[in-house]
Amino acid sequence: MTKIIFIDGKNRARSIDAKNNSTVMSAAVNHGVGGIVAECGGNAICATCHVYVDEAWLPTLGLVGEDEDMLLDTTAAIRRPNSRLACQIKVTPALDGLTLRLPDRQS
Ligand code: FES
Repeated sequence: MTKIIFIDGKNRARSIDAKNNSTVMSAAVNHGVGGIVAECGGNAICATCHVYVDEAWLPTLGLVGEDEDMLLDTTAAIRRPNSRLACQIKVTPALDGLTLRLPDRQS
């Protein structure tokens, strides 16, 4: 298990234990994290799993993929340099403590 921390718009932090080799999106949905809608179920077509990654974690996550990059231009909340799609982040032990902020809206 890998600990992932979500911070909502009111600065409330919630920590979940995510299964390794799952995605951050599926872990969030399975734990009922509000703010991750994930309409497409992780097929990279809805952008409703948008998250803002704590800057310190960006190098660990690596580069945004081409499809993810295009989809990030369609997010409901403003795209920022640290925007990512939670369904495209694979959970690994290296992400233990990964901290993500939830956008104010997903649709
Ligand atoms: S769940 Fe639809 S793009 Fe991530």
